[in-house]
Amino acid sequence: MHSSTLHSDVQVALLNKIHNRTAQVFVLGLGYVGLPLAAQFAKSGFPVTGLDIDEAKVARLNSGTSYIQDVDSREIRQLVEDRHLLASGDFTRLASADVVIICVPTPLDKSKKPDISYIVSAAEHIQASLCPGQLIVLESTTYPGTTDEVLLPMFEETGLRLDRDFFLAFSPERVDPGNPTYRTENIPKLVGGVSQESTALAVELYSTVVTRVHPVSSARAAETAKLLENTFRSVNIALVNEMAQLCRILNIDVWEVVEAAGTKPFGFMKFYPGPGIGGHCIPLDPYYLSWKARLHGYEPRFIELAEEVNTRMPDYVVDLVVEALNSQHKCVNGADVLILGVAYKPDIDDYRESPALKLMQKLHRRGARVRYSDPHVPVLPLLADGKSYILQSQTLDEQTLAAADCAVIVTDHRAFEWHAIARHCRLLVDTRNALATYRDDSHVFHL
Ligand SMILES: NC(=O)c1ccc[n+]([C@@H]2O[C@H](COP(=O)([O-])OP(=O)(O)OC[C@H]3O[C@@H](n4cnc5c(N)ncnc54)[C@H](O)[C@@H]3O)[C@@H](O)[C@H]2O)c1
Repeated sequence: MHSSTLHSDVQVALLNKIHNRTAQVFVLGLGYVGLPLAAQFAKSGFPVTGLDIDEAKVARLNSGTSYIQDVDSREIRQLVEDRHLLASGDFTRLASADVVIICVPTPLDKSKKPDISYIVSAAEHIQASLCPGQLIVLESTTYPGTTDEVLLPMFEETGLRLDRDFFLAFSPERVDPGNPTYRTENIPKLVGGVSQESTALAVELYSTVVTRVHPVSSARAAETAKLLENTFRSVNIALVNEMAQLCRILNIDVWEVVEAAGTKPFGFMKFYPGPGIGGHCIPLDPYYLSWKARLHGYEPRFIELAEEVNTRMPDYVVDLVVEALNSQHKCVNGADVLILGVAYKPDIDDYRESPALKLMQKLHRRGARVRYSDPHVPVLPLLADGKSYILQSQTLDEQTLAAADCAVIVTDHRAFEWHAIARHCRLLVDTRNALATYRDDSHVFHL
């Protein structure tokens, strides 16, 4: 408890509400990040209101249905019935908030620059209802400086003052969808306030719902720590993707090499090669950092090189498909190619930025007839050659597998039956080492 920095009546009142769990918690944006977080606060006894611009999501939550795989519908139904959780599209309700947490998307624009328009739009709603005694926390991943350079001036424009009237902090979201071990409650939470008082209040808030909170000296440090985490992943994935390409030239099994290096108990961390990076974080977040770096005249060469290597991986996989088809005297034009798994990682339904999409677009452009099978993604919208397609997941039976000229393993979902796949497919490209035991088999091409 940081009582030395807590003095004003406003602070003490909010602190009391946090401690006795009467603080009205509002979560803006009920997606992969916001919904689990809202549920976690509601389960801990706080009255929670989730605000979203997507009316369909609001309606589904209020009817007790979850649309996020990691969040159980039974749990949502119970929380809604017990009036611990309410979803709404009415932003004027913010006037009754004690705590507001922003979990809206942070995409890139067409020229790969940060697009913080969703944050700004959420902040405009907060600004319109800002009241004394509120704590606002930004959780969306963003470039260093967003909280104190963009949000703080917007809130101070109201005439209310930081620390006297309201408090503001950044706390990055680290949730890992599909991870059964690390969930919202046991992932350590970083907190960096725009002021010491803000940090102290945000630490008290998150301490009620997560097992460990790690305060840092500023919002900028917390924003940068999140970008370092994801840039670290991007760079290491790029390194191992480069190793995969080199190992293939040298006729060495990269997967064996990674496992071997991984036996070193210190100074090495295993990363695996793959068909490219996907999801709402790793392909995007490093651009937030490099954009900010360039604004200050610094060329972040390492970060950009990693992006370049990872972005090229779908092309490398297309080359492998061409090589595999060639080995059977076939060409990619007219070939029936079956993509196995389109989600960006195993056992989840999220296909945002998935390398499968890029791979399918590139194969389509070369004249292949592309189909896919993914038990988690029944329908897939695909934009290829300027046209929109709606594809349906194929049932993975013997007939479907045998009909493909080449199948490409993109996502190693647990639900896939690898032996049946290896047995019935005439030709396979395995980008995930799912068929490690078929390494010497001439109909399986490995990354
Ligand atoms: N998905 C992840 O695994 C993950 C992990 C860590 C951090 N993040 C970060 O968290 C943030 C949110 O990501 P996500 O995956 O939850 O996105 P998402 O698209 O799943 O959810 C965002 C939600 O915000 C809503 N929204 C948009 N504008 C709004 C507004 N003005 N007011 C209220 N709601 C609004 C959308 O309708 C949507 O439901 C991003 O910054 C992302 O980088 C995501």
